[in-house]
Order: sequence, then C-alpha cells, then structure tokens
Amino acid sequence: MTNNIYLVANWKMYGGPSNLKSLNKVINLRKLKKYRKANIIYFPPFTLISNLVSKFKKTNISVGGQNCHYQENYGSFTGSISPKMLKDLGCKYVILGHSENRILGDTDEIINKKIQSALNKKLKIIFCIGETLSEKKSKLTFSVLKRQINKGLKRIKNFQKIIIAYEPVWSIGTGIIPKNKELETNVGKIRNIFSKKTKKKMLILYGGSVNSKNISILKNISGIDGFLIGSASQNSKKFIDIIKKTIN
Ligand code: 13P
Repeated sequence: MTNNIYLVANWKMYGGPSNLKSLNKVINLRKLKKYRKANIIYFPPFTLISNLVSKFKKTNISVGGQNCHYQENYGSFTGSISPKMLKDLGCKYVILGHSENRILGDTDEIINKKIQSALNKKLKIIFCIGETLSEKKSKLTFSVLKRQINKGLKRIKNFQKIIIAYEPVWSIGTGIIPKNKELETNVGKIRNIFSKKTKKKMLILYGGSVNSKNISILKNISGIDGFLIGSASQNSKKFIDIIKKTIN
C-alpha cells in the first residue's frame, strides 16, 4: 500500500433511505486523527446522491455518480444523467468504464467520450479496467488492459484527474481475488503503460471481492493506492472494518 489511501464505496443498484443512518458511524470514524488520511468516496445510486451529499457536507467524504452520459449538459436521452447533472448535485467524481456497464454496451469509444465530457465538467474520474476470465485464460490480460487504457483515454491529457481502478471481471462478486504476485504484476504492467504517457504517478486502486477478511492480504500488495469496494461497502459495519484494517 502507498500512503495516500483511497477507500471507495460503490453501492451499485443497492440502497435506500434506510441505509443513511449508519453512515454517521463512518463520519465519526473519519473524524478520528488516525483515519483522516483516508480518502473516502461514496458512489450511491443516483437516487441517493443528494442525501449523501448533504450528509457528508462538513466532512471530507466525497460523493460521485456511478456512471454518466457522454452528453455534457442536457439532451433527449431518456433515463440518462449528464456530467452537468452530477456536478450540480455536488458530485466530485464519476465511475466510468465499469465492467457492469461495459457489458451493457459501453465500448472503449463511448467511455472515452464520457471521460472527456466528465472532465470538461470538472469531475474526477474513477476509470475501471480489467480482463474477463476467458481473456485471462487466453493470456490476453496485458493486451486487454493496454487497449482499454489507450482507447479509453485517447486524446485525454489531464491524467491528474483520473484514478485507475483495476478490477478483474472474474473477481467481481465472486469471492475470488487474484494471487498477490498476479496482482502486483498486473498493477506493474498498468504503471508501465502510463509511464509512456505521463510523468505523473497514477493512483491505482484494486477492486473485486474486497472484504474485511482478505483486506489484510490485499493491503500488503505494493503499488496499490486503495480499493474500490462493492458489496462489502453497502454495510457500514463491514466498510468500517475494512477502513480500520487498511489504516493501522
Ligand atoms: P464486489 O466488491 O462486490 O466484488 O464489487 C467490486 C466492484 O465491482 C466495485 O466497483
């Protein structure tokens, strides 16, 4: 783990008003000196963004959208949310390129347009990349990561506004995490790809079945700046457990 630690909660399509109260515990934990160095970001469903923004108002906890349209402002796109709308709600971040949206049709080209629009609206990006199980078995991991980065970030210059989330698709929601060596190697490869694009050291998170048990293993992996956490982040007690075990 590096020192600038990110603990990022992706609630996916879970959560309702009854989930709000327990967030006070996270707020209180974050007030303790020890945990102040943790960068905590919540990605609730769109329906709860306003609630979380007001709840986290005087804290340093940020809120973001789980996706957005590539149209920057307004448009006739039923059911979609634009970068401007997220910004107006008080979001600082947006997740783009998540595999759960790639399988619904988000191509590298669409993701690239979304990233450009979101950056234009001064949102920071959590850019998800990762190989599927069959790509891994066919030894295509490196070429997939390279393609996703090169195409997804085509013509993008402000890398300082982008955080990479390496999420092997086969690890998401399965309870299976990569072996330390494999994860270290893949994160190293991602860093290598970026070393040809920017002098800046990219922030790289790991995502996929992170929980309060395996966090003790994962946090020892070098080169990782934090975690993008799905199901274990939807429960404040489990999320707090992860925060406490990561920062000690
Ligand atoms: P899980 O932690 O539920 O495996 O989800 C990971 C993820 O997709 C976070 O974006």
